[in-house]
Amino acid sequence: MLMRWFLPLIFTLVLTSVISSATGSDDLPEGKGKDVFLKMCSNCHGLEQVTSVKNSKMQWTYVVDDMVSRGAEGTDEEVNAVIGYLAQNFGKPVNVNTATAKEIEAGLSFTAAQSESIVQYRTDKGAFKTYEDLLKVPGLDAGLVEEQKKNILF
Ligand code: HEC
Repeated sequence: MLMRWFLPLIFTLVLTSVISSATGSDDLPEGKGKDVFLKMCSNCHGLEQVTSVKNSKMQWTYVVDDMVSRGAEGTDEEVNAVIGYLAQNFGKPVNVNTATAKEIEAGLSFTAAQSESIVQYRTDKGAFKTYEDLLKVPGLDAGLVEEQKKNILF
């Protein structure tokens, strides 16, 4: 008697979880490099093994290089696109008003000189309030700032 509703229930639960894991890629943030990420990183393990981690760009570079040595396949351009996508969407947030130059350098992958400039700028002019404020810092690479946009806290 119990089995009559219990089995269909189990069946439904299993089916639902299979469907939701199959459509898991739809939860990924949109952005440049997403298609390459799906292509390059889903063959050997689930994408959630990747997206559950938060890393700086430097650390993602290390992870992706490691995966290439394990057999992940892509051109140099695709490798860079994946690193960019991961750094952008699964980065480590850094508060540019309170972090030290070293922390900015490690977290956001700006150069040492660029990170020093950020600290100098906020010391001279006060706290950054918006993303646009940050773009006024001399010597910042606009492309890299854009890539790190989601990881920058004020
Ligand atoms: C050729 C197979 C293969 C491909 C393709 C692949 N990986 Fe992996 N990945 C592995 C193996 C093997 C492990 C180790 C699994 C373990 O230790 O449980 C792993 C583990 C990981 C881990 C867990 C942390 C670690 O370093 O052990 C991350 C993060 C990761 N992969 C990211 C990626 C990314 C990003 C891509 C796409 C660029 C990718 N993987 C593509 C084989 C692959």
